Amino acid sequence: MPSSNTFKIITIDGGAAVGKSSTSKGLAERLELMHVDTGSHYRTLTCAILGSGADAEQSETVSKILEAIKLSTQIDGRTARLGINEVVPADSDLRSPEVNAQVSKFAAIPEVRKKLFAYQRSLADLAREQQYAGLIMEGRDIGSIIFPEAAYRFFLDADEATRAARRAKEGQTDSIAARDKMDRTRLAAPLVCPKGATLINTADHTLEEVIGKITHLIGS
Ligand code: C5P
Repeated sequence: MPSSNTFKIITIDGGAAVGKSSTSKGLAERLELMHVDTGSHYRTLTCAILGSGADAEQSETVSKILEAIKLSTQIDGRTARLGINEVVPADSDLRSPEVNAQVSKFAAIPEVRKKLFAYQRSLADLAREQQYAGLIMEGRDIGSIIFPEAAYRFFLDADEATRAARRAKEGQTDSIAARDKMDRTRLAAPLVCPKGATLINTADHTLEEVIGKITHLIGS
């Protein structure tokens, strides 16, 4: 992997509850990066569409709702959050059982992904403008579709029991296996380990070890 002092783009992909967020936030702190959680982008659109009374099967209505949505960004410490028409939804709304159950259905709709593609890529420019040392973006298709050219791409994995225990500890109702299955088998931007990405099994390591390993691999 190239080592340089220039602006870095780091991608972190993987299924639900593999440790993407803790790892990405820890790396953002350590390396002074802007952090973006794209799962929250899909959750935000899911909340907005459900709030308008539509479901994932009503494709025409979903397209109309998407057209009316204006995306905005709010920077909160090191994290850039997505807002809709300047409003960033509360975390508790984004992680409700209903959103957990519906988000993968909406994320499989090509128009929903199209709404986010250019926005997500544009966050690298925002991070540069804001003078961060780089951007760390987590999700399902970041190293494969959003930033396939990024020099530092990682894919995190862990066995199902470890992941279920993590969610239970967070007190969340979340069918992670069902979401992963939907995310892996959809046609639009399926969850895959990007070609050339480094695979890390987080069940074998502490969070500090994973952060240390990635920091070492990117040469910082
Ligand atoms: O990361 P999180 O579990 O919050 O993601 C919620 C859902 O958003 C995923 O299960 C997936 O369906 C969708 N997602 C996606 N592409 C991304 C990030 C998340 O399809 N880059």
